[in-house]
Amino acid sequence: MCGIVGYVGPQQALDVVIAGLRRLEYRGYDSAGVAVVSDSGIHTRKKAGKLVNLENELDFDPLPASHTGIGHTRWATHGAPNDVNAHPHVSEDGTIAVIHNGIIENFALLRDELIDRGVKLRSETDTEIVAHMLAAQMTESASLADGLRAVCQRLTGAFTLVVVHSETPDVVVAARRNSPLVVGRGEGENFLASDVSAFIAHTRHAIELGQDQIVEITPESVTVTDFFGQPVDVNEYEVTWDSAAAEKGGYDLFMLKEIAEQPKAIADTLLGRIDASGKVSLEDMNLSHGELKAIDKIIITACGTAYHAGMIAKYAIEHWTRVACEVELASEFRYRDPILDKNTLVISISQSGETMDTLMAMRYAREQGSKVLAICNTNGSTIPRESDAVIYTHAGPEVAVASTKAFLTQIVACYLFAMYLAQVRGTGYGESSSEIALELGRMSAKVDLVLDTSEAIRDLAIEIADARSILFIGRSVGFPVALEGALKLKELAYMHAEGFAAGELKHGPIALLEDGLPVFIVVPPQGDELHDKIVSNIQEVRARGAKTIVLAEEDDMSINEFASHIIRLPKCPDLLQPLVAVVPLQIFACEMATVKGYDVDQPRNLAKSVTVE
Ligand code: M6R
Repeated sequence: MCGIVGYVGPQQALDVVIAGLRRLEYRGYDSAGVAVVSDSGIHTRKKAGKLVNLENELDFDPLPASHTGIGHTRWATHGAPNDVNAHPHVSEDGTIAVIHNGIIENFALLRDELIDRGVKLRSETDTEIVAHMLAAQMTESASLADGLRAVCQRLTGAFTLVVVHSETPDVVVAARRNSPLVVGRGEGENFLASDVSAFIAHTRHAIELGQDQIVEITPESVTVTDFFGQPVDVNEYEVTWDSAAAEKGGYDLFMLKEIAEQPKAIADTLLGRIDASGKVSLEDMNLSHGELKAIDKIIITACGTAYHAGMIAKYAIEHWTRVACEVELASEFRYRDPILDKNTLVISISQSGETMDTLMAMRYAREQGSKVLAICNTNGSTIPRESDAVIYTHAGPEVAVASTKAFLTQIVACYLFAMYLAQVRGTGYGESSSEIALELGRMSAKVDLVLDTSEAIRDLAIEIADARSILFIGRSVGFPVALEGALKLKELAYMHAEGFAAGELKHGPIALLEDGLPVFIVVPPQGDELHDKIVSNIQEVRARGAKTIVLAEEDDMSINEFASHIIRLPKCPDLLQPLVAVVPLQIFACEMATVKGYDVDQPRNLAKSVTVE
């Protein structure tokens, strides 16, 4: 959840760290803080609220020049988001500064031990105890890395810890367990960060850190060892996107930019995976034909928007492959004793590849002997690294907290997998199999067409900005689209919004309908067996005075007389319709939040990457 940066090298550390934090602010923005190490010791500044508050504080009360620094942007877990609880935390003797992402689960026990020893804690955080434990440990340890190693052996839970010591001013040391950390290897300088966007402006050479590893960086060296001091092999790679990809590129908001990037994100995710005859190629996924043929059940686990992608995938997988598929919220999955065996394929969908609930669910599945396939957007992140197989989506960096382009590419990756599985198992999906694959190839251009509806959707947001509540309904794959439309509105516009299966309306939610209540209705393509049923649902909604906002195919005239507003969608096969239907709902949520004056890219209480359970 929190964002972490560390730097050592010839540049002014503070400048590098603040620029890195700006890139990581999407991970948390409750407070921010920095520490630099100079000849006169460790100096910190920290401030509640967004990074700009810290920057103002630094203007008012500057730090001394330094070539070593660490910085943190916080999503609060232990303790309120105030100045005192902001990171870094410093030991009583002032020699150690620590920043942390994650939760130290045995914190209460360790805190009590420190209190018994007479240590005076200043904050309510779990992080501060590490500063005191490490300061005490340094009387026995030969180096900062050794000291941190010893402290980590006493910690349980999830943590990335980054520490500096006043007596070794050109060293930064970090430890990683269950929370993300990457190293950026530069020329005469080195970096640590929660993700590569923090240092991509300086270097593209990245090193993945594994579980339970310690890294020590100096200007000239990167040394990685395990928690017992043994050297480990690391995976070094080149980051393929450039720093411009993580900038706003002329848009006012990251979310608007990312919505506009969706046609390209789809095209990039499909690139090289469907040939001219409509044959799908996923040979590099790392599941053999034998393994794919042995699957007798698929379980998809994911959270939030990625879960909605999984719900859509279920329809495609079962229809095209005839393999039973369940979808489950990752946070529920491993606590209900699910039935898994070696013939179960678990698919973990995650943009970040770091979501703790999804990670724990996949680990649980692997412990039960199941194979895990990750569908992920972040190269080198924990979930794909620990999976048996991976399909990377190629959405590029997604910075806005509300997921958009990652969602569309998750759906595309699931379709590709379903088609490929059908191909390998010979189940086919009717004579039209190659035609559907070719249609998928055309979806990028169709999403581009939907982007043209933005202006009308903005007007709609202004018109219904005062609504108390907004409902979304759909059937089949339109149901998860409705859920996603409601989720987007909740997270961005802080409004009550609910998504329902349209057929369920009459079983309860219809009681919510009242005069003027806006209801978005996703209408399947004409010819779909559910089309006429949802037209009846529109009439039921309309008859109760609600305002019907209908998303329907461009030439579908059957809805005209029952619709207060119509949003037109390009024609496409039924199962592919979510790719075009969800886009107006993303734009709507973004516009609604803008009309209400909210921070679209950094909505309250949220963080982009949820690395706590
Ligand atoms: O990184 P992940 O895809 O695993 O994240 C899962 C959810 O936390 C994420 O989709 C969340 O629901 C977004 N805020 C939705 O916009």
